[in-house]
Amino acid sequence: MQPTQTNFENHWMPFTNNRAFRETPQMFARAEGVHYFTPEGNDVLDGSSGLFCTPAGHGRREIADAVHAQLMTLDYTPHFQRAAPVSFELATRLSQILPEGLDRVFFASSGSEAVDSAMKICLSYHRAKGEGQRNRFVSRNWGYHGVNLGGTSLAGMVNNRREFAGVTCDVVHMRHTWREDQRYTPGQPETGADLADDLEEICRNYGAETIAGVFVEPIAGSIGTIVPPKGYLERLRAIADKYGLLLIFDEVITGFGRTGSAFAAEEFAVTPDLMTMAKALTNGAVPMSAVATSAAIQETVFAAAGDTDRPELFHGYTYSAHPVACAAALAALDIYQGEKLFERSRALSPVFLDLIFGLRNLAQVTDLRGYGMMAGIQLKPAETPGLKGSQVQRALFDAGLHVKATGDALIVAPAFVSSQSELEQMADILRRVLGRTELH
Ligand SMILES: Cc1ncc(COP(=O)(O)O)c(C=O)c1O
Repeated sequence: MQPTQTNFENHWMPFTNNRAFRETPQMFARAEGVHYFTPEGNDVLDGSSGLFCTPAGHGRREIADAVHAQLMTLDYTPHFQRAAPVSFELATRLSQILPEGLDRVFFASSGSEAVDSAMKICLSYHRAKGEGQRNRFVSRNWGYHGVNLGGTSLAGMVNNRREFAGVTCDVVHMRHTWREDQRYTPGQPETGADLADDLEEICRNYGAETIAGVFVEPIAGSIGTIVPPKGYLERLRAIADKYGLLLIFDEVITGFGRTGSAFAAEEFAVTPDLMTMAKALTNGAVPMSAVATSAAIQETVFAAAGDTDRPELFHGYTYSAHPVACAAALAALDIYQGEKLFERSRALSPVFLDLIFGLRNLAQVTDLRGYGMMAGIQLKPAETPGLKGSQVQRALFDAGLHVKATGDALIVAPAFVSSQSELEQMADILRRVLGRTELH
């Protein structure tokens, strides 16, 4: 029998106050372009590309057709000792837009899996070099690297780590890069490059020879778009090189044009040793993620296997390089290239950032940050941290705008296919809701 009403009890929703959601569910039934539609038919503009997933907008027929064709041709291939041509085609296509030198690609299905895979590649590389004692990682306060156990250990957003401390691995955190004098700064702040010296201090305090790698999001996304100070990433690169650590950029949000370049590594002209990507890899249509690294790192790991008949890396997933995900990714890349969407992101960025920085004097706004097509709006906090963020997120939904909220920050990251008028409508809704004084 077809249920007439949604039963909210069985699905335990992720990162959700399930109790509040059941009281006032906010649901989407359909999506097209940069618009979601509620089951009642209300239009809700998508100000965050879902969760930073859909730069080409929703409902792309090219991706749907590619997925359908792949499902009907080869719906699944195991990738342990077997493969299908489509994954090699995708890896080669990616290598053409990845930063130079990062042309070896390992596939997984989520950002969290990519992060944990990158950690293992890093550990495996050091062990292959005879430096198996390098088994500690460095990451950064306010960082987000997914929710698997490796990523949970790297987490700098402490709520994501606190309850699971018993099973996390050894990670030392650098300070985050936001400073008071950066308030209301668009683009890269002038100050704060010296915060990279935390890495050097950690190397001295813990012994660089015990550290495998340092993970950062080039722009810290989930915390609310914290843009790296000028010179900061360059300094991390130099310190990592000095002490033999691998530098890992987590580009799960910043990849695929969000900064105006294909990847933030290219935008900021700093090449990491490993890079993670997900979300926009398939324009959000099918779960897929990847880790890119260099031939030198791959060859070191391969060499350690010698001429034994064993996998070089004891790691992989049932859905690694799923052919349907590969087909979706190839179709998404065709759209990005065919419609020049990374260039469009760069061209649209000044318009977008002007609209965001126009929200400066509103009652609920205490800071604005932004780069490319991503921005953070820091809200005046209520008594309980995070309460204002969820209040505002709900009010925005009711007013016709979806944006991601984390704590008391909103993260705005529209699709690159947004028209100027759609961006203006998003800003209008933000202005109306954030101007309310009665939200407290
Ligand atoms: C930088 C970063 N890394 C990892 C992840 C985790 O990705 P997923 O939710 O697909 O596991 C996210 C998700 O937002 C992210 O922003």
